[in-house]
Amino acid sequence: MTEHPATEKKEKSRFGLILHLHPRKVRESTLRFTLTFGLGGMAALLLVIQVVTGLLLKFHYEPSPENAYNSILNMQESLLFGKMLRNIHHWSAIAFVWIAFLHMLRVVFTGAYRPPRDVTWVTGLVLLILVVLSNFTGYLLPWDQLSYWAVTVGTSLLSYVPLAGEPIRKALLGGAEVGQPALTNFFNLHTGVIPLMIIALMAWHFWRIRRSGGVIVAQEDKESPMVSTRPHLVNREFVVAITLLAVIFMISSLLDAPLRERANPAFSPNPAKAPWYFMGLQELLIHFHPLFAVFIIPVTVLAAAIGMPYVKSNDNNQGVWFLSRKGISSAKLTAVAGIIMTMIFIALSELLPDPEALLPKVPAVITTGLIPFLLAVVTMW
Ligand code: HEM
Ligand code: HEM
Repeated sequence: MTEHPATEKKEKSRFGLILHLHPRKVRESTLRFTLTFGLGGMAALLLVIQVVTGLLLKFHYEPSPENAYNSILNMQESLLFGKMLRNIHHWSAIAFVWIAFLHMLRVVFTGAYRPPRDVTWVTGLVLLILVVLSNFTGYLLPWDQLSYWAVTVGTSLLSYVPLAGEPIRKALLGGAEVGQPALTNFFNLHTGVIPLMIIALMAWHFWRIRRSGGVIVAQEDKESPMVSTRPHLVNREFVVAITLLAVIFMISSLLDAPLRERANPAFSPNPAKAPWYFMGLQELLIHFHPLFAVFIIPVTVLAAAIGMPYVKSNDNNQGVWFLSRKGISSAKLTAVAGIIMTMIFIALSELLPDPEALLPKVPAVITTGLIPFLLAVVTMW
């Protein structure tokens, strides 16, 4: 039955934005939930949640060391739903990092990073970095003991980066230590620069997905029929969105975002910890020379991720999880081997005598940097 033109026009304008973001038709096989787990859509919704709750928080928040902490206490105690608003912003921020990371894993394990999706992959990597940075810049804003010292430790990691590290740290903090200039910089980055960068890059990410012909389709599903985006895809996205919102609301009504005592620059908690997403780097510092822990290893991992789409491979089975049944078993084996090797490495670094003491004449950057780094690379190979 053909619809009346007036009804059709009204329908189109109601779903204009949604249809603008999607092609008119999609391949039926890409609707299977277990292909994407809806993770990209969830990440997009989390950005919307962060922008909306962030803008509302901004009405009450005061970005100065004298007033920031009290403005948050005040919001939590005397503003209707103030605590809930802060909780939603806090838990969604954590979910954003995890969901973007899981989305990256799904892209890797379905081989969807290879050309023509290479640019989508690289924009995704930058998005992940920006999501972590938006978390980090937000972390300082409550100005409590936790945020003050986590940002002090987090930014001090930059000092180990050769040449540019210290100037970047000083520019970010607006001085040598965390104070009013740092809070102003973090506030402006957090509520302006970084969200705008994420929105712009996300638009490019979406455009690239469209240009590559939509979500990846397995060879065997290339002939599956095309179905209209609405209702088939849009209804599924709606269910994922409502479920995610329900989970976030539930967590936010049960668990409060942490708020310790007001920041005290004269008293550092013991041990002072970096925010959770930088704890891996802090942990690496225990086992490697600082130059390797905070610079060479992260840069190598990033370069390897950027280069991944261009490594020659003869697998044509993209769009299938782990590429085949055999792939699933080798993935399991790799995961178990990875866990065992990591434990062996940690045990060796605890049990073996200190390499600096063993080879006192050799510079530490070789004994605790280059040698263990090369050992780790060779083992992974
Ligand atoms: C891009 C996504 C964003 C992420 C991942 C994010 C993350 C965070 C985090 C982790 C905090 C600290 C919360 C806490 O534990 O107390 C925070 C605080 C804050 N954010 Fe965001 N945020 C985002 C976007 C925004 C935007 C767009 C705005 C405003 C335009 C905003 C405004 C604020 C304000 C005012 C605070 C201080 C209030 C508080 O700490 O509770 N955020 N953000
Ligand atoms: C703010 C974070 C992100 C948002 C909002 C986002 C959004 C999306 C959406 C909606 C899709 C299509 C549906 C789906 O695959 O679930 C997608 C696909 C894709 N994303 Fe992301 N993404 C983000 C981060 C990332 C990251 C961190 C990576 C990888 C490092 C990445 C790489 C890709 C690739 C390669 C595709 C194409 C997959 C295919 O064609 O099957 N994205 N993204």
